[in-house]
Parts: sequence; structure tokens; C-alpha cells
Amino acid sequence: MLYKWNLTNIGLPLKVLFTSYLCVVAIGYVMAFTQILFTHGMADGKFGLSVDDIVYSYYGNRSGTLIENKLDGSMKDKAEDADRFKIIQWVRDGADEETFKSKGIDQIFENNCFGCHSAEADMGLPDFTQFQNIKERAKEDTGATFSSLTRVSHIHLFGISFIFFFVGLIFVMSKSVPAGLKAIAIAMPFASQIMDIGSWWLTKFEPIFAWLVIIGGGGMAVAFAFMWTVSMYEMWFMRADKPVSVKPGDA
Ligand code: HEC
Repeated sequence: MLYKWNLTNIGLPLKVLFTSYLCVVAIGYVMAFTQILFTHGMADGKFGLSVDDIVYSYYGNRSGTLIENKLDGSMKDKAEDADRFKIIQWVRDGADEETFKSKGIDQIFENNCFGCHSAEADMGLPDFTQFQNIKERAKEDTGATFSSLTRVSHIHLFGISFIFFFVGLIFVMSKSVPAGLKAIAIAMPFASQIMDIGSWWLTKFEPIFAWLVIIGGGGMAVAFAFMWTVSMYEMWFMRADKPVSVKPGDA
């Protein structure tokens, strides 16, 4: 015997499972967005996400060095202004190893940066106790490196498709959305994700593609919100259909 199920009549235990999953994923989404605001969002030194932020993150801010740009951006609050200016001045003067010590820049790093940027802190950030790692970032800022792009790309592709597979699977069981619209909503996050990640790579070479990053990210968020709301609404606010028994083959 087969039954026709939809989100209104799958029974309490499955509803609880789906709802728990959707809630945790939604909180994860909010966290991910907050994280974006604090890293990419601060790339231009101003709060809030803009096209400039995306250009600086992927293409780089080629008018300056990475250290200087970070000290005017997401690392702005990590040291007193006077110390930040000393570091920036030292970078502009050529970032010599000699003056690193004689000008007391090493002390500023030790007091303000090693807390996170060291092997000991173990945060996966560049280790600034090694001078070489500072020197490399005192050159023209060309944005995300290939190794960081491949790393973040594959994590996103695997992780996000996993999330949207289950969000889509739950939403498939909704009954109030016509099949065509359903298909679009289900495909959209996958297509948006490819657009989003593809345009990180394109932006690395050509800043104009930063717009596509925003459109891709936006498409994903819209599809997520739509599928989430419809699924929750049908499970908890719609009157349950009686499960209809059908013969095998009719389903
Ligand atoms: C509270 C922890 C913390 C402290 C303290 C800190 N940073 Fe960072 N730093 C981070 C995080 C997290 C990132 C990665 C996110 C980003 O790029 O904004 C980062 C990234 C950077 C980068 C970019 C590295 C790269 O290769 O992408 C530079 C340069 C940098 N920090 C410089 C500094 C300097 C200089 C100081 C000291 C004045 C400092 N940071 C202090 C947490 C910290």
C-alpha cells in the first residue's frame, strides 16, 4: 500500500525532524552572513557589504599592500591608531627586516597581532612570528590567492550543495506551489552557487564581475527564504490532508 504524503500530513515526528533541521540551518545562514559582514564587509574599512568590498577581497586593492589595507579594514580595531600608522609607515618605507626591530615594529606585532597570528594561537591565520609571512603581505595587494580560492571554493561547493539538497528535498513535499515554480526554486540555489563561486574567480582577474558575486549570493538567499517559509507554513499552519491510499503505480 502506498500513501500520498505532503508536508501537511507527514506526521509529527517527521515534522519535528524537518523543522529542527530547517531552524538550525537558518541560524547557520545568519551566522554565515554575519561572518561575511565582519570579514569581506570590512574590506573597505566601512561596515556593510558593497561592491568595493568584493573587489578588494578577490581582485585586491592594488593601490596598497595587504597589511596596509587590512589595517584600514578588518584589522583596524586590532591596534591603537598610533601603532597602526607606525606599521603602515614601515611598510611604505620598504618593510625591511632591520628597521622591523630598530623601529620597534616587532614589539607592536607582538603586543597586538601574535594573539591570533601565530602558530601558538592555532587559528589557521598567517603566522606573523615568522618575518617572511609579514614580508609577503607587504607587497601589492592582489586579493585572494589561488590556494585560498581553491580551498574556500571546494568547501562551499560540497557544504552548500549538501544543505540545499535537504532543504530542497523537504520543499519537494510541499503541495501549494506549482511544479514549474517548484523546479525553479529548487534549481536556483545550485545555479546561484556556481555563479557566485565562478565569479569569485572571475573577479580575481576583472573587478567588474564583483556584481555577479552579489547577484549569485542574493539568488541563493531568496531561494532559501522561499523554500524555508513555504515548508514551515505547510507543516504548521496548513490544514492536514487526509493521507489517501493509492495503488502502486498511481503515485
Ligand atoms: C583577534 C584576532 C586577531 C588579531 C589580534 C589580529 N588579527 Fe589579523 N586577522 C584575523 C582574522 C580572523 C583574519 C582573517 C579575516 C580577514 O582577513 O579579515 C586576519 C587577517 C589578517 C591579514 C590578512 C592575511 C591574509 O593573508 O589574508 C593581515 C595582513 C592581518 N590580519 C594583519 C594583522 C595585524 C597587522 C594585526 C596586529 C595589529 C592583526 N592582524 C591582529 C584575526 C586577528
